[in-house]
Amino acid sequence: MQKIDPDKLKLFSFLLFTKLEGAVTSAMVHLGDHLGIYRAMATATTPLTTAQLAHATQLNERWIREWAYNQAAAKIISTINSPSESPAIDDDTFFLSPEQTAVLALDNHPAFGMGMFHGLPQTMDSLNRLPESFRTGIGHNYDSKGEQGAVSIERNFEPWSNANLISAVLPKLDGITEALSAGAKVADVGCGAGGAVLLMGTEFPNSEFIGYDISKYALARAAEKLKASKLTNATFADPSDQPMATNNSVNFITTFDCIHDMTHPQQMMQSIRQAITDDGTWLLVDIKAHDSFTMNATKNPMAALLYGVSVMSCMSSSMSQPGGAGLGTLGLSANTAEQMAKSAGFSRFRKLDVEHAVNAFYEIRP
Ligand SMILES: C[S@@+](CC[C@H](N)C(=O)[O-])C[C@H]1O[C@@H](n2cnc3c(N)ncnc32)[C@H](O)[C@@H]1O
Repeated sequence: MQKIDPDKLKLFSFLLFTKLEGAVTSAMVHLGDHLGIYRAMATATTPLTTAQLAHATQLNERWIREWAYNQAAAKIISTINSPSESPAIDDDTFFLSPEQTAVLALDNHPAFGMGMFHGLPQTMDSLNRLPESFRTGIGHNYDSKGEQGAVSIERNFEPWSNANLISAVLPKLDGITEALSAGAKVADVGCGAGGAVLLMGTEFPNSEFIGYDISKYALARAAEKLKASKLTNATFADPSDQPMATNNSVNFITTFDCIHDMTHPQQMMQSIRQAITDDGTWLLVDIKAHDSFTMNATKNPMAALLYGVSVMSCMSSSMSQPGGAGLGTLGLSANTAEQMAKSAGFSRFRKLDVEHAVNAFYEIRP
């Protein structure tokens, strides 16, 4: 073994343990959301002591206090007195800045960030199954994360979509808002809990919407929400029972963050081509990815996060059947998507000018 440089050793150990700090703090964020602590802080009009926070949440003060110390030390929540300056527990008060409130406590804010943290126990539980996946090559689909996995996806994607899909994304597509207003057939493939279908179904009552997903938990959530919405122009289906049309009859097809999760994405693109009308439009939304690992690692500050999510969720889903493509979270770059779409029989491919931290948006046409 080469000689160890003590300074580099310290620096590397520091780097490694910052990752563990992130994991442990993420677990505390999950609890803050799950137990309603952030929501209680968001509704308070003044900073709260831990005793007041315990009262507001009906939780135990000692546990709240230790949690709050983690959160304030990690700068996830704000504090008036730093713990080192004030050892007396009642001197410490905690509050959320407006930005912390938006990300931690406002379910409908486009920057709301609790979705991924919601599903953290299920995501981490996959560690029990993954060693076997590394040996056999076979991963696990979204339903391996149970009902809460589906809720996590829903909470992750819907806030941004609710705020932007109708007003900022659809107008970027040639003629789609007009076609939907007049009346069109629409399919959302990999629809999850159906948020986009219900949103568009409400906005465009003359159009007919169908959402497809293979997750029974996501479809159950979608069915519940459909019932509550009382919409009559939307339905949901599992494509294994009710396959997509093959007669070029669907005017508009959407796929939000799901093609890279699919075991057979090329086949899915072919099915989309068979379903869509010859003058139809496919809106492909997928992760903003570069063409190589090096490009992703140097240009995307979230690369490590996304490659990890890939092993635990996206690539795992895409490898959940023998022969799965295994594209992975960062596996569908614009070039790859264009090449695959062209092989599936599409000829026009246009990147849309939509600002999003993680996703890229494409208009694809026959
Ligand atoms: C990351 S989630 C995105 C869900 C939804 N589009 C959204 O934005 O909330 C990916 C979804 O793709 C679904 N999926 C994976 N393979 C599929 C397939 N072959 N057909 C339909 N849905 C599929 C999964 O079950 C999961 O619900």
